[in-house]
Parts: sequence; structure tokens; C-alpha cells
Amino acid sequence: MAPGLVTAEKAERGKVPTDVWWHTIVPTNGKEKTGYPSQKPEGVLRRVVQASSSPGSWVLDFFAGSGTTGAAARQLGRRTVLVDNSSEALAVMQRRLGTSGITYLDVQGEHLTCPEDVPAALF
Ligand SMILES: C[S@@+](CC[C@H](N)C(=O)[O-])C[C@H]1O[C@@H](n2cnc3c(N)ncnc32)[C@H](O)[C@@H]1O
Repeated sequence: MAPGLVTAEKAERGKVPTDVWWHTIVPTNGKEKTGYPSQKPEGVLRRVVQASSSPGSWVLDFFAGSGTTGAAARQLGRRTVLVDNSSEALAVMQRRLGTSGITYLDVQGEHLTCPEDVPAALF
């Protein structure tokens, strides 16, 4: 529930699980912001990863965009495979996640040294 809507009475009753999650947008001037148009907040993806995997397990995102799933999975000690067919997404992921401990591959499984030029990533 939106923080402003939580009255003292509702807080006293405790939290009832619902099918709607309240979460702020990616802060417009925060360091989390990548500029990728459909970027999701890390807090949402942390919750998804935490609820559906265990430390050390694999997390796969076939539509990785700016790599939010990968960033959340890394923070939580998961291994990840991220895929996207957009070269812009690939460039954003590389800037966000770096290259240390990451393998970038094209769709043929060839290693990429300049992922910005090729529309696929896997690591
Ligand atoms: C909604 S965005 C994902 C945003 C991501 N959750 C984030 O936080 O940045 C969906 C992504 O799917 C990618 N996409 C769409 N069709 C695809 C396809 N057929 N194969 C791979 N990626 C695809 C798009 O390039 C886009 O980056």
C-alpha cells in the first residue's frame, strides 16, 4: 500500500498479502538509473529473485533489457543468464554490470569483445 495511505489503524491490523506490490519508480537522478526506457526498479526484481530462487542457483531472463534481473541476482548471490536481442540493451547491461566475471556471447556462442555491435548477450 502506498505509504501515505497507511493509517495508524491499518498499521495496527498488520499487513495483509495482496496481489499488488507497492514500489517506487527508479529514482530519476539516482545511481540505479540507466536510461533504458523500460527499466524496472531493482527492489522489485530483488523480491522476485528472492522469492523464486536460492543462493547459488541460476536465474534466467530472456528479455533482460538493462539487466535489472542480473543486478538483483548478483546482489543475492545467484548466477545468471541474461538474453536480449537489442544492441542498446546489451550496451546498457555492459555499462551497468561491467565485464568482470561475465562472459558475453553472440547467438552462435562466440565470445564478444564489443557487445554493443551484436544483438545478443549471454553470461
Ligand atoms: C520490458 S523490457 C525488459 C526490461 C528489464 N526488466 C529492465 O529492468 O531493464 C523487454 C526487453 O525484451 C527485449 N526483447 C523483445 N523481444 C525479444 C526477443 N524476441 N528476443 C530477445 N529479447 C527481446 C527488448 O529488447 C527489451 O529490452
